Amino acid sequence: MAVVVFVTPAGERREVASSGEATVMHLAVREDVPGLPAECGGQLACATCMVVVAPEWRDRVGPPGEDERDMIEDSLGEVPEGLRLSCQVPLTAELDGLEVSVPSQPGY
Ligand code: FES
Repeated sequence: MAVVVFVTPAGERREVASSGEATVMHLAVREDVPGLPAECGGQLACATCMVVVAPEWRDRVGPPGEDERDMIEDSLGEVPEGLRLSCQVPLTAELDGLEVSVPSQPGY
């Protein structure tokens, strides 16, 4: 189990405990976190699941994969530091305490 802190676009902090969700996106959708419609359901086809990983977690979470980078770049024209598609971040016990922010507009 891992607890993830989501900071919503309105600045609200939501601490959410996982219960077997595969990715950070799945947990956010279960909790109805605002700003994360995740329209493609995790198929790496929509880029509507963007989060900004808190700086202290970036090494542990790691950078986006190649296809994920391409998707972000296609959407934003760049790949901002710390930005990940939450459907591509597996929710493991090592990420217990992870903090991510949901951008108020895509990417920022
Ligand atoms: S949910 Fe569509 S790319 Fe992540």
